Amino acid sequence: MRITVVGMGKIGLPVAVQYASKGHDVVGCDIDERHVAAINDGTARTGVDDMDAILAEQWSAGRLHATTDTSMAVAESEVTVLLVPVAVTDGAPDYRHMDAATEQVAAGLRRDHLVIFETTFAVGTTRSRYLPMLAKSGLTPGRDLFVAFSPERVQSHRVIQDLRRYPKVVGGVDAASGERARRFYEAVLDAAVMSVRDAETAEFTKLAESVYRDVNIALANELARYAHDLDVEIDDVISAANSEPLSQLHQPGAGVGGHCIPVYPYFILAGRPDMELVGMARRINDAMPGWVLDRVAEAIGGLEGKRVLVLGLSYRADVREISHSVGISLVKGLRAAGATALGADACYSDVEIARFGAEPLDEARLDSIDAVIVQALHSTYRSFPWGKLPAGAFVLDGRNALDPALIRSAGLRYLGVGRNGVVPS
Ligand SMILES: NC(=O)c1ccc[n+]([C@@H]2O[C@H](COP(=O)([O-])OP(=O)(O)OC[C@H]3O[C@@H](n4cnc5c(N)ncnc54)[C@H](O)[C@@H]3O)[C@@H](O)[C@H]2O)c1
Repeated sequence: MRITVVGMGKIGLPVAVQYASKGHDVVGCDIDERHVAAINDGTARTGVDDMDAILAEQWSAGRLHATTDTSMAVAESEVTVLLVPVAVTDGAPDYRHMDAATEQVAAGLRRDHLVIFETTFAVGTTRSRYLPMLAKSGLTPGRDLFVAFSPERVQSHRVIQDLRRYPKVVGGVDAASGERARRFYEAVLDAAVMSVRDAETAEFTKLAESVYRDVNIALANELARYAHDLDVEIDDVISAANSEPLSQLHQPGAGVGGHCIPVYPYFILAGRPDMELVGMARRINDAMPGWVLDRVAEAIGGLEGKRVLVLGLSYRADVREISHSVGISLVKGLRAAGATALGADACYSDVEIARFGAEPLDEARLDSIDAVIVQALHSTYRSFPWGKLPAGAFVLDGRNALDPALIRSAGLRYLGVGRNGVVPS
């Protein structure tokens, strides 16, 4: 097959590489000319070693090219997959990039083309917003134009592994489209394909998965705050409760970041603000950085004039990704309270850390720090020099990822989220 992938970002590029690895000719489209040039001259990187190895292999085999001319690429291919971002602006999905991309796809359509949207949408978007745009080509959906939605369930930085592992959910705007999309995925993926009734079911699936995570993390956070107040260890409670198969309590933490979980609930709430649990989970999780800062303030006698280090600014450990990161909320909150917000992140340069609003950490000055908030415990921080902090400094483990005994043995005070770090008796 000749396949077009529109949007060569963190997800689109590895997806294109996966298709190429199955022996298909793939053309990636992007509006970023430098990125297109890098893909064509073989210098583009995903930042993940095993993915880059497959990328290099497919590029050498001549199966992966890129262009800024989406309409032309579509005209010369049989299948188009769109992975252009849809973010949230003012509490609602912002479709401007996808609209622009879809207009270009429509201009290149030829008979019997299959178009699949993989970017997360509000339910009904494929049919009500994009089908009419594609039908402007003069083709008739279900007869000589096939359109489906299939959510991208992968996580950035491990796209290829996830693509090979999670079932690919797919639903068409009509039966023929659903069937074509199913056959397409069977040809390009190793994972099972799970056909669902229609595009709406497939769109809903991704939102349901994201909201499930958000609501359950919010529950874990509320329970952790309750455990904190009662001086009970939340870890003990979670492992004891989850020994019963119907209980699947999640892990609490300093808040929820990244571009999926804190974003997609708004794809529901924009149209259904009455869905109380969905909105409440957002509020609970968004309140967690404030709860963390209150605990730090309590422990070190207020924040004004204090020097507080946020360890790991990216949204999760070992990932260079800042979108909706709790690290940024913590930095903002510290500065608003009159503290000096120091930042350390092995994934970012000092210039980038300064751009995030934090003062880059000078390790020689660790002895001047009043408190550390662990936001993302990158692997390199497993050997963080805790002993260089002043005796009695406070460590707030926002990911319940540290060994409290290790922190205490360095002469420091420890608190997690619902975790007082009591050594087991
Ligand atoms: N990143 C994730 O972890 C993740 C996980 C699951 C699903 N997704 C889905 O994937 C979508 C894309 O995410 P991403 O992380 O790859 O985004 P990204 O920002 O890394 O990449 C998007 C790419 O699209 C390009 N683009 C923008 N407008 C375009 C246009 N009109 N034509 C062609 N290219 C255009 C951009 O230049 C960029 O290279 C998200 O909106 C989300 O729905 C992302």
